[in-house]
Amino acid sequence: MKIAVFGLGFVGLTTAVGFANKDIKVSGYEISKEKVEMLKNGNIPFFEKDLNEALNNAIKTNLTITSDIIKALDSTDIVFYCIGTPMSDDGSADLSFILNALQDTANHIKLCKEKPILVIKSTIPPGSLKDVFLPFLQALGLVENRDFILANNPEFLREGYAYDDFMNPDRIVIGADFKIDKIIEIYSKFNAQIIFVSPNTAEFIKYLSNTMLSMMISYANDMSIIAKHIGDIDIKKAFEVLHMDKRFFGNPANITSYIYPGMGFGGYCLPKDTFALYKQSKNKGYESKLIKEILNINDAIIDYHIANIQENRDANIGILGLSFKPNSDDVRDSKSLLLIQKLIAKGYKNIYAFDPLANHSFKKTYNIDIKYTNSLNEIINSCEALIIATAWSDFKNLDVKNKRVYNLRYI
Ligand SMILES: NC(=O)c1ccc[n+]([C@@H]2O[C@H](COP(=O)([O-])OP(=O)(O)OC[C@H]3O[C@@H](n4cnc5c(N)ncnc54)[C@H](O)[C@@H]3O)[C@@H](O)[C@H]2O)c1
Repeated sequence: MKIAVFGLGFVGLTTAVGFANKDIKVSGYEISKEKVEMLKNGNIPFFEKDLNEALNNAIKTNLTITSDIIKALDSTDIVFYCIGTPMSDDGSADLSFILNALQDTANHIKLCKEKPILVIKSTIPPGSLKDVFLPFLQALGLVENRDFILANNPEFLREGYAYDDFMNPDRIVIGADFKIDKIIEIYSKFNAQIIFVSPNTAEFIKYLSNTMLSMMISYANDMSIIAKHIGDIDIKKAFEVLHMDKRFFGNPANITSYIYPGMGFGGYCLPKDTFALYKQSKNKGYESKLIKEILNINDAIIDYHIANIQENRDANIGILGLSFKPNSDDVRDSKSLLLIQKLIAKGYKNIYAFDPLANHSFKKTYNIDIKYTNSLNEIINSCEALIIATAWSDFKNLDVKNKRVYNLRYI
């Protein structure tokens, strides 16, 4: 097996050195001749812990560094593209550098082994592989799965820990239409799960990760402004104490259940407390757009789901879950109430409900015209369509034949 890595920046150099030190023959190809000279001499143009030593080991064994594309592509099975995708003037990702590299590859594709696998490792917006790169290669006269296989493989390494992150990944994500044996072969040398998903999913996963990190940083900064306006708040201490929350610890940490889509937060605390802090800060002269938007999204998500529920208005609709979260019978500000009210307002006439714990408290708290059922079986048998509104584990793997299930908690 031989691989080529195009672009020897942070990601590409780490990738090339990493695979070489896993005993794979690697050609590292870079257009900057200056960089190539430096790397050939065992020096790297930036600081990255352990990478210099690893490079020196790799160039003595499996890694060749070159600015000659012919050498780079000769007898190559897999090409990894680790080329920059900077922001263009309009804010979108500039994919032109990757397109240039694909064009160069296409010009010399015959040098590669049969049906080389072209893997985009750069960060590319969801849809790029299918909507940009595939048509580009096809326009050059190449036929997918005859002349090449196209895939993507987002990289999650952190600068400063690049080599260690590459050698010890948490997960390896491959976006492709089918499982590719050669990719499995090279990544089997790493101790991590190899996850094959559709190309769009793989691209999305990378942005899911980065935008979550951006959101958390902006959240923390916004909170520091709110604290300043309220006054006499030790923000450093406050965050240190926040980090002691046991939801951040363990594997998987319980915080993951909050970073998961569903139909919004309800219950006694989150809605009222989020709103109260927004109001307090506003009264003190700082209106947090972020907190306001958190509340707006929480209101809007239920309408988004309801728009997707298309059933006959006379059909029996079963609501699975009435408590605001699983393992509780608390129904205060439960999203299930809003869901039922909105379904009734849309003309649904026959609504059934079942909750493993909260039937009684829901009935007692809310005077609403629905039929309560006493078991999961009863509601399944009574209804044509079921809506999972609370993420009770009882609702996983439902045995429902010929019935539509709207899984609004993605359990
Ligand atoms: N830096 C990170 O921490 C990081 C982490 C994960 C993903 N990414 C993504 O990986 C991609 C690369 O990032 P980077 O930080 O390594 O970029 P970089 O700018 O450090 O490296 C890109 C390299 O590609 C070379 N290059 C450009 N066109 C080329 C071509 N046609 N053929 C060969 N080489 C070419 C450039 O000269 C440069 O050395 C980006 O999409 C980035 O968003 C970066």
